[in-house]
Amino acid sequence: MIKIAPSILSADYAALGSAVELLRPWGADYVHLDVMDGAFVPNITFGAPMTKALRTHSDLVFDAHLMVAEPAKWVPAFKEAGADIVTIHVEADRHAHRTLALIRSLGMKAGVALNPQTPPSAVEYLLEGCDLVLVMTVNPGFGGQKFIPEAAKKLAVIREMLISKGLEDRVELEVDGGVNVETAKLCREYGANVLVAGNAVYSSPDPKEAIRLLRGE
Ligand code: DX5
Ligand code: ZN
Repeated sequence: MIKIAPSILSADYAALGSAVELLRPWGADYVHLDVMDGAFVPNITFGAPMTKALRTHSDLVFDAHLMVAEPAKWVPAFKEAGADIVTIHVEADRHAHRTLALIRSLGMKAGVALNPQTPPSAVEYLLEGCDLVLVMTVNPGFGGQKFIPEAAKKLAVIREMLISKGLEDRVELEVDGGVNVETAKLCREYGANVLVAGNAVYSSPDPKEAIRLLRGE
């Protein structure tokens, strides 16, 4: 089953509550929250307070993508804010294994993300301890960028790693960056089962149809 996680990075920042309320009637599965600190990535967006403010606007899964340095520092705040999934970048944490366990100990699902240049081997020993792997198909920091096909190939490698460890039913494989109707087909074929899409949804003239097409319906 393919899940769609629209990123609010491409929504109207002056009306984020309403932008999030639209996602359930549009048929989305997750709300993808792109948290950026201006240190790990060259942009600043929002943090736990904004996440908490948006929590009452949707009962969909809150999928927080922490593009931040020292992610462990922020995990309790995102729990308090009502996040359901917290994904950290493997490049941002010397003790990612411990941070994933911290996320889980607080009752949230733990995700680990890889930037385009990071090899799948970087997460090989984290797969048992996580619930989601996020493959970036753009260099993180901005919405509306061009999809990087080389990075998408990692989806197939990680899908195989999950199958060989018997984790393919428990660990979700998410793709993020430049996903649109064309690139979504490739990502589904590579084995992704959660597709993040910002621009392809919020800039679409028909977001509900866009979500349907991203799912391959
Ligand atoms: C980029 C973010 C992505 C991005 C996706 O740093 O992690 O979630 O916003 O947006 P689109 O789908 O517009 O590339
Ligand atoms: Zn993201």
